[in-house]
Amino acid sequence: MISKRLTTICNFIIGDHVLDIGTDHGLIPIFLLQNNLVNRVTATELNDGPLEIAKKSFKKNHLDEQINLIKADGFKTLNPDEFSTIIIAGMGGTLISQIINNDLYSGRYVLHPTNNFRKLRETLKTLKFTIIHEQLVVENKINNLIIVAEKTIKIQHLNEYNLVVGPKLKFDLSQEVTNLYKTSKDYYLDLYNKSSNKDYKKKSNYFEKVLKWRNKKS
Ligand SMILES: C[S@@+](CC[C@H](N)C(=O)[O-])C[C@H]1O[C@@H](n2cnc3c(N)ncnc32)[C@H](O)[C@@H]1O
Repeated sequence: MISKRLTTICNFIIGDHVLDIGTDHGLIPIFLLQNNLVNRVTATELNDGPLEIAKKSFKKNHLDEQINLIKADGFKTLNPDEFSTIIIAGMGGTLISQIINNDLYSGRYVLHPTNNFRKLRETLKTLKFTIIHEQLVVENKINNLIIVAEKTIKIQHLNEYNLVVGPKLKFDLSQEVTNLYKTSKDYYLDLYNKSSNKDYKKKSNYFEKVLKWRNKKS
């Protein structure tokens, strides 16, 4: 069964120089090469356990010659501008923010944060990246949000509402996105009821607002 998550991530790459940060067992480089999307991939991994598994998996699939596997923290030991696309998938939004939090890169990011979407959007805004696509992929009942960002001449205007609901995601009128917004609204309302923290109420209100807007559109 072809993974919808991997297909979507790999569908957004541009150019032939791809870096996969935090490759874990190397699913993304294997998918890219087996589908002839690139000729070579560079992959980094911080931890020895996954690094060894990735190494074995690349060899087993006869792809070890085409994958440059490096033990590294993010792209710290690399020159990121050598890469046309940098993929960082399957990590929390805060960790991805920490990894990209420098001014070095000016190509395309394809990001798959597992949580803290707002935080990641804010980091991209601070780094003057524009969010050009947001796509929700539901696989095995898990919501996977893919964010694609690039530096553009015109700076994207992202106010708090857009940071919370997503500047591109809000235009996807699918039932899956509606369900995500409903779950998020209830989640923040519940947190507000338990804590009286007004920030949670504000977030819940933003999701309510986007749900009302979608209702009018459909
Ligand atoms: C859940 S896995 C994601 C696997 C893969 N990217 C995917 O989407 O299929 C996250 C991986 O990132 C690695 N990692 C975490 N922080 C990292 C960092 N700063 N630099 C490189 N790898 C990191 C972890 O060791 C782990 O193997």
